[in-house]
Amino acid sequence: MKNKFHSLFFNSLILFAGLSAMSVVYPRPQTTELFNKTWRFKLGDVQDGQNPSLDDSHWRQVNLPHDWSIEGHFKSETNKEDVPEFHIVKGEWKFSRGDNMLWKDPDIDEGSWQIVKLPSTWEEHSKYTPDNVYGWYRRELTIPAELKGNDIFINLGKIDDADETYFNGVKVGGMGSFPPNYITAWDILRYYKIPQEIIHYGVKNSIAVRVFDGIMGGGIYNEGEKIIEGPFESTCPGGSGAGYINAGIGWYRKKFKLPEDIQGKRVFIEFDGVYMNSDVWINGVHLGNRPYGYSSFQYELTPHLKFGDEKNVLAVRVDEKQPCSRWYSGAGIYRNVRLTVTDPVHIAHWGTYVTTPNVSESEATVRVETKILNQSASVRNVTLETVIVDEFGHESTSSSSLQEVEAGSTKIFEQFIKIPKPKLWSPENPTLYLVKSKVYVNGSIVDASETTFGIRTFEFTVGKGFFLNGKHVDIKGVCLHHDLGCLGAAVNKRAIERQLEIMKSMGCNAVRTSHNPPAPELLYLCDRMGFLVMDEAFDEWKLSKTMFGYGQFFDEWSERDITDMIRRDRNHPSIILWSIGNEIPEQGNANAYEMSKRLVDICRTEDPTRPVTSGCNIPEAAVKSGFSKPLDVLGINYSMPFYQTLKGKAKLVASETASAVSTRGEYNLVQDGDTLKIEKESNNQCTSYDITAPSWGNTAESALKAVKSAPWVAGQFVWTGFDYIGEPSPFSWPSVSSYFGIVDLCGFPKDRYYLYQSQWTDEPMIHILPHWNWQGFDGQKIPVWCYSNCESVELFLNGKSLGEKKFCDTEDLHLLWKVPYSPGTLKAVAKNNGKTVCTDEVQTAGTPFKIMLTPDRTEISADGEDLSYVKVEIVDQEGRVCPNADNLVKFKIKGAGIIAGVDNGNPISHEYFKAGERKAFHGLCLVVIQSKREQGAIRLSAESEGLQAADLLFRVK
Ligand code: GAL
Repeated sequence: MKNKFHSLFFNSLILFAGLSAMSVVYPRPQTTELFNKTWRFKLGDVQDGQNPSLDDSHWRQVNLPHDWSIEGHFKSETNKEDVPEFHIVKGEWKFSRGDNMLWKDPDIDEGSWQIVKLPSTWEEHSKYTPDNVYGWYRRELTIPAELKGNDIFINLGKIDDADETYFNGVKVGGMGSFPPNYITAWDILRYYKIPQEIIHYGVKNSIAVRVFDGIMGGGIYNEGEKIIEGPFESTCPGGSGAGYINAGIGWYRKKFKLPEDIQGKRVFIEFDGVYMNSDVWINGVHLGNRPYGYSSFQYELTPHLKFGDEKNVLAVRVDEKQPCSRWYSGAGIYRNVRLTVTDPVHIAHWGTYVTTPNVSESEATVRVETKILNQSASVRNVTLETVIVDEFGHESTSSSSLQEVEAGSTKIFEQFIKIPKPKLWSPENPTLYLVKSKVYVNGSIVDASETTFGIRTFEFTVGKGFFLNGKHVDIKGVCLHHDLGCLGAAVNKRAIERQLEIMKSMGCNAVRTSHNPPAPELLYLCDRMGFLVMDEAFDEWKLSKTMFGYGQFFDEWSERDITDMIRRDRNHPSIILWSIGNEIPEQGNANAYEMSKRLVDICRTEDPTRPVTSGCNIPEAAVKSGFSKPLDVLGINYSMPFYQTLKGKAKLVASETASAVSTRGEYNLVQDGDTLKIEKESNNQCTSYDITAPSWGNTAESALKAVKSAPWVAGQFVWTGFDYIGEPSPFSWPSVSSYFGIVDLCGFPKDRYYLYQSQWTDEPMIHILPHWNWQGFDGQKIPVWCYSNCESVELFLNGKSLGEKKFCDTEDLHLLWKVPYSPGTLKAVAKNNGKTVCTDEVQTAGTPFKIMLTPDRTEISADGEDLSYVKVEIVDQEGRVCPNADNLVKFKIKGAGIIAGVDNGNPISHEYFKAGERKAFHGLCLVVIQSKREQGAIRLSAESEGLQAADLLFRVK
């Protein structure tokens, strides 16, 4: 057993790498090992997939964490080519406005119905505005007699917003939801199966479609043309929210042996998250179902296990019915899995809870609550010894307690330990301590665990914002979804760490885990890198935002899901807020108070030390209905006037701001008569000048200004730090990823990144935009913007001053020049007190000449997970990045690594993320290298037709 399992302490040593002097050797009563290697995976449903004797030898071998949907090489249910499918949208239909359920019947009088040509919205074919709500479409369809005996599928394209579809008077489908529980499904393909028994073969059948439209553009407006490119499919049931990437059903199986000598121990399997609706079996015995894909959970395997030479079979079925999410969720066992072996007397799952009830400069009191479980057959005298270790590995103080624990029951141990002169946790100094717990029965150690925690105090106030350790701190936060760009949703610690590094370099000090419990790795990193965290439970309650969203599970699961989130996460010093939900549709409803109070009460029971919030997008409704009453801190999403309205009435945080949209490197400058105009949107790209946001949002600059002028608001969480897959507002297909990010999907900064940096950091910086390659625009006045945290900026074109501008002379957070274009060098010189402190410049680049590779790391660990992110630039002969280059770059890799993903940050690219090549986008692309589990070297080479190639060497240690 010693050889088979890493000890818990060994794992913890790695996890706790920030602390030194961890060399104390402890007995190893409990083992926890990652259980990620050598699983078998099959896409699609499998009859009897849980059966231990099923032959899975032909299934694909995968290691976890695994996200099958990012791979994209599969056909969805709706793509079966062997079933008869009728595309029925195109052509003539009958239409009537209004609503009458009799219109579903085959034989009604259609005399007064209008003849319309589809696809088109009803505004186009019937001028059906503005009271547009209900309308019906009808047509006939003959199904050839030779198809008798077949189920038929009809493809109704896309319908704005909700529909119910009837075939010969029988309901065969419907998407979205009609009022009162209105849910839009405007972007979702309607693909309905017609059961054989209602089809009249060889003669006419009637099809009737009832439609409800919420706002704008009602009706059957899209033909449902199927385009499959890369992992993207235009008719994917998840629609734009999912980034047009399919999911479906998948099975995982793992066979493993257990040594004889652990018989008598307790064995558990722990999943950090399976997206979604997972069922787990051990040796054919069903252990449980977990619908919410973001919850962590554990099952006990003990009674069903085999030991010695006999194999155990773990089977997991994952069922992701789309649309279920407003963003790309990924699909599969996308987070880590662990196997734990314990003595029958042991610390319960998430059984240690550390708080710091009293903190002063001279002393902190640490309260350690430990839940001990006795799964043995008799009562046990249990001693719990608890030691606190500081960042240098010094064991400071300890406590020991003895209690009797009855067979089959749990006991809570409560200990108070004092730490003299505690070092406080903060974003600048994220000092951590460690609780080491050891459990003894009759003098022998039976269990041990380690829990990191931090010592800090914090407070949200009504009038003055947020205080940490007694000092005012402005929350400079970002919202992050959990996908990792080209790696998909499969969790990778280094990928998250890099995201946080990029955010930190912008001056960001906080993260909102929008809109779900995060991977544990995110919190592990936030504790150590110094980020404040708003840990969020849900994006919806009972009223769903998507057809197969969490709403269907809310009644049964919400208590369990939010409880588990808090029990898992409550020792992280980084967390300063629990959020019970984002933009909850019930926020203005009559029962809003009861619903919100129930969840807030659970948070308070599980962790009375942290305030509870919720991101409200209709604050007036949330206040009026009582939704906000139980909250400690009212989260305001957008709705900036409410910073004023609610001043002095509640503790406030701007839980979501901006939603400014932009594409890296895209400026959309177009000739407009004699002048140049910035098009906000063009060819499914948004300009990178900070001038555009959706109707509910604001430019980054106006949101920054609004928060700054309301110091009673604790700070903000910008939507979003990184671009993410899905939700490509303001567009849909062919756009597949978001435009909201401050940095693109690769992590390359957009211009907005420097705006935040100018407002959130003190180290002098200056950034100039746009690029300076405006061939064909000679003499035209190009809008030139500068972001800086210095007092003034002087601009030079080819050495000639274009004047100096000062921030104190403008309300804006950028300085603007209109510079008549001539090629060369545009240089911005930032000054304080008249002295130059930093400069930035853009130069006109020549034609693409060579590839330049810049890795973020040239040495990575041989753990099979570590990554190096390599920036690929297309440069001219002088090494200047060519801002319009889109050359296709082909990569080759040799040695101890693989290509984990490629990307270029273009929201309309349909190339595979898991590939060996990528087109540059505005001169850049990205290749991510991942180590294998072997030491050695990696050679990466990059080639592109007509360009000088490049290569790089990495060490894998
Ligand atoms: C918000 C919502 C986010 C995202 C954003 C886009 O209202 O909370 O999840 O959809 O809009 O602007």
